[in-house]
Amino acid sequence: MTVLGIESSCDETAAAVVRDGSQVLSSVIYSQVPLHQPYGGVVPEIASRSHIEKIRAIISQALKEAFPDAANPLDEVDAIAATCGPGLAASLLVGWSAAKGLALATGKPLIPVNHMHAHLWSVQLDQPTVSVDALYPQLGLAVSGGHTCFVEASAPNAYHLMGQTIDDAAGEAFDKAAKLLGLGYPGGPVIDRVARTVPQELRRSIAFPQGKVAADHPLPEGLRAELCVSFSGLKTALLTYVRKNPPQSEAEVARICAAYQEAIVDAVAKRADVALRTGQYKSFAVGGGVSLNGRLREALQAVAKRHHVPLLLAHARYCGDNAAMIAGLASVGGGLVAEDPLTWDIDPSLPV
Ligand code: KG4
Ligand code: ZN
Repeated sequence: MTVLGIESSCDETAAAVVRDGSQVLSSVIYSQVPLHQPYGGVVPEIASRSHIEKIRAIISQALKEAFPDAANPLDEVDAIAATCGPGLAASLLVGWSAAKGLALATGKPLIPVNHMHAHLWSVQLDQPTVSVDALYPQLGLAVSGGHTCFVEASAPNAYHLMGQTIDDAAGEAFDKAAKLLGLGYPGGPVIDRVARTVPQELRRSIAFPQGKVAADHPLPEGLRAELCVSFSGLKTALLTYVRKNPPQSEAEVARICAAYQEAIVDAVAKRADVALRTGQYKSFAVGGGVSLNGRLREALQAVAKRHHVPLLLAHARYCGDNAAMIAGLASVGGGLVAEDPLTWDIDPSLPV
């Protein structure tokens, strides 16, 4: 099955064509990062307007790149998929409406996709096809600017949420720290880069909290406290530290970044360890922008190895928001089951 996918949940306008789950025929991403950079975070109104301006050209480009010789490339796809949540309402609306319009005009099936499920599918893109039997049950970790969650998947369309952040997402924790330290936006890549300059023995020289969630903390049903995490205390600890010890040099800023990053990495890796120890999984998939983090990759690799479970990571080009993950998941039946998707609306807080 060949699917055109559309993604516009946050600050990337993206379209892609994917065949049979993993074969990416095209993947076009327009990143709005420079538009939001002056504000140190995503401004929803700017994001939505930019999606509207770009979406048609991005979809056309993805279709043309996938089928350069076709007179009408849209004829070549079997279905149209788009993110319907979670994300920013006014951003989601642009991609979802574009997909609805194309489906109405062509009579092709419309497939709604959960953005977080798609992040977990991103590990299959441009990889040799594997049988679904070899992947599931799967432990999934989605770490992005908006989410940090551990899920158990029994199939590409069956997910159970086991743990999540109770406040800030991991990417948000990186972004807020970078803003506080005057390092710009987005914060994850710059903290990752700056922290690399710090010698190993200095990387844990400041003890930051690791976001433990108390066993009796009230949580939605089905969530396990040991797999949940809180990053807001970490941010406060950083603020307190910097007020007491204003960094006097670049090396000092780097040492703070390294210790802060270690705290996030340790928090996530410890929970991965618990999840792998207490469950039976054939694979461990990690997706989302924060999965680009070098130290996180190292730490998760070590945990997965200890439990003899293969760690699946996405190619760097599919870690951040992209439409190939939307099209890929939809092409293997991982879209949301919908009787009449043309009547569906977006859901900014769509649960995992
Ligand atoms: O998945 P994504 O592109 O968008 C969301 O759905 O949120 O993730 C963006 C997040 C940002 O918070 C960014 O700072 C973080 O991913 N990020 C990183 C790295 N690269 C991007 N965090 C840590 N280390 C990185 N190398
Ligand atoms: Zn995302």
